[in-house]
Amino acid sequence: MEVRRARPADRQRILDISAQIWDGYDYVPLMLDEWLAGTAGELLVAALDGDVAAFSYRTWVAEGHAWLQGIRTDTALRGKGLGRALTERSIERAWADGARRIGLSTYIDNHASMHIVESFGFRRMASFVYLEGDLPGRSEPEDTGVVPLSDGEAIRVIGRSDYLAAANGRFPWEWKFLSFDWSPRTAIAWAPYRIGIRRDGEVVSALCASPGSTPSDAAFLSFLDGEPDDLLALLRHAQADLGAAKWEAMMPKDGDRGARALAVLRDSGLRSWSGFSEDVFSYELDRVPALSREAQNVEGRRVPDDAG
Ligand SMILES: CC(C)(COP(=O)(O)OP(=O)(O)OC[C@H]1O[C@@H](n2cnc3c(N)ncnc32)[C@H](O)[C@@H]1OP(=O)(O)O)[C@@H](O)C(=O)NCCC(=O)NCCS
Repeated sequence: MEVRRARPADRQRILDISAQIWDGYDYVPLMLDEWLAGTAGELLVAALDGDVAAFSYRTWVAEGHAWLQGIRTDTALRGKGLGRALTERSIERAWADGARRIGLSTYIDNHASMHIVESFGFRRMASFVYLEGDLPGRSEPEDTGVVPLSDGEAIRVIGRSDYLAAANGRFPWEWKFLSFDWSPRTAIAWAPYRIGIRRDGEVVSALCASPGSTPSDAAFLSFLDGEPDDLLALLRHAQADLGAAKWEAMMPKDGDRGARALAVLRDSGLRSWSGFSEDVFSYELDRVPALSREAQNVEGRRVPDDAG
């Protein structure tokens, strides 16, 4: 078996492998040109006797924080160690490129994937309910005291929210997750549409979302938290502003407010694939602290201070 960087000539084979899963609804074909260009990450393939049999992609979610995604093995060639080899190589290359943390997400039924990453020491750090569907459309926002939030306000309200506590500090954007305290500014940049409701000068409820890049794309709801009566008003306002044909969301479930936000989204028409139970897991692996590697450093080479 050979693991190597993908080449343009591998394109069709990668598309064929991707077409085998999820009734052809894999997102890989939409990303493949960008992945092959390699500007924001690295696409690896595993080949058996020279034929591409599996692939996976590695990119970044924030400075020092690598992200693994899109691992696929030809259905006829599973169980031969290709997924494991790609994962191992991706981890090595992420560390070599300066990552201090590697993240990835899995859906609840990706048992092989969870088995592989757990065997490399990845830990499940947060669980979310994946939601998708339409929100009732409105042409004009209601006058409910909804105001745009500045970066600073958004960071403050998210940082101390029940939502973030229930998500164990992880902030979502589509199927990627970032520890909010790793880089709050990177996290909120994922959700440039931010609105809130202020009472007595305090933001008491907020919604953060990203519009799709084209009108037919889904808008993604990264954050919804606040007083019960405000949640629906924020959602309706967002839908009136963004006019999205479809919405997707990742919501933590714990706590009264999490449960309430989930209920509002369910009542507004969003659907879950799993009966509104937690079905998406965020996994992370942190780099071994420099100290223990220094102890192994038999050649006495200097370990950089920031290697931890
Ligand atoms: C995940 C995937 C890439 C694994 O590829 P693979 O080449 O078969 O992986 P490997 O042969 O290296 O390893 C499979 C491991 O999973 C284990 N495994 C397989 N099915 C399993 C299951 N249902 N439950 C638990 N473990 C399972 C195997 O026993 C093996 O473990 P081992 O190495 O300890 O013996 C492949 O299943 C796939 O393409 N799935 C569809 C796409 C997908 O779900 N991607 C992940 C999105 S997060």
